[in-house]
Amino acid sequence: MSDKVQIFDTTLRDGEQVPGCKLVTEEKIIIAKKLEKLGVDVIEAGFPISSPGDFNSVVEISKAVTEPTICALTRAVEKDIDCAGEALKYAKRGRIHTGLATSEMHREYKLRMTAEQVIEKTTMCVSHAKKYVEDVEFYAEDAGRTDNEYLAKVCQAAINAGATVLNIPDTTGYCMPDQYGEKIKYLLENVNGIHKATISTHCHNDLGLATANSIYGAINGARQIECTINGIGERAGNTALEEVVMIMKQQNHLDLHTDINTKLLNETSKLVSEMMQMPVQPNKAIVGDNAFAHSSGIHQDGVIKHRENYEIINPADVGVDHSAIILTARSGRAAVAYRAKLLGYEPTKNELNNIYDEFLIVADTLKEVDDELLLKLLKA
Ligand code: KIV
Ligand code: ZN
Repeated sequence: MSDKVQIFDTTLRDGEQVPGCKLVTEEKIIIAKKLEKLGVDVIEAGFPISSPGDFNSVVEISKAVTEPTICALTRAVEKDIDCAGEALKYAKRGRIHTGLATSEMHREYKLRMTAEQVIEKTTMCVSHAKKYVEDVEFYAEDAGRTDNEYLAKVCQAAINAGATVLNIPDTTGYCMPDQYGEKIKYLLENVNGIHKATISTHCHNDLGLATANSIYGAINGARQIECTINGIGERAGNTALEEVVMIMKQQNHLDLHTDINTKLLNETSKLVSEMMQMPVQPNKAIVGDNAFAHSSGIHQDGVIKHRENYEIINPADVGVDHSAIILTARSGRAAVAYRAKLLGYEPTKNELNNIYDEFLIVADTLKEVDDELLLKLLKA
């Protein structure tokens, strides 16, 4: 039996921090319900101290959603934690996500705290959160740039204070996959009692490595991945949920699985994109419009003959009804015949040759030949 990796969705917290992605409570509830159907294990519903609206969203999501754990973010500040404890009081399973930065740079230039003071704050915030909920996740912000030996000391303090989850964020998207994987391994080998807790990845995408880093984290023992739908999030974004989930589904040798109903990935992506008014790039893995679209002759011929020639994922597995054969000036006869058949036409070889000559003349002037135009060519 493969190991389960928990999916912690932070679309409504890290994702919603993106300029222009702000949602009101009613919209957040719609998304939270969709995430529940999708099968995420944890929903990070907001940062309650940040605004009355966010506080209210955490309260209402806690009432509306019962399957996933509902998580609320705080700084390592008592009043933040009190506020999160209050906001989570209706949650069937509530989690407080508290912590502070650990890298030398953040300690010196942001927190203006010594290494010792950061460790003291770690103990304080986890212990204080424990007064409200059993399930306390500690985050070591900028762990990606934190020296491993020191990070282990901070994690030790969090474990000693009762943290149930240790989040190791690569906040600035700095790490390479092997470095990030090593970090997780190092912590597992050097923090006493760490096996009682779950290690979590939280990777940002500044170098386009968020997905790879999260997977390397899981390969090295992390059993929770923090991610967002469509990879939205601060700057270049967070790890894309749909990507890590499909990697674990497709790559059996990893021996990792999630409880995500992958058939809902496409509709969940569209819902988030529409509500947040954040378009998905067409070539986005798994959920982009072109993820299952083929436009060059060689690829189209291959897909028509045997879909797996050019698709490693069955579109139905992610909720897309079919692969698309797009007609462009790079398409061949096979693609034209295929699309003609969908319109109810089966031209002979000679007819197809004639249509194809006409098709190329038209296609050279356009980005795409649509059904209407193809019908005209077929009827000519
Ligand atoms: O990127 C980060 O470090 C965060 C923490 C607040 C978990 O989002
Ligand atoms: Zn983050």
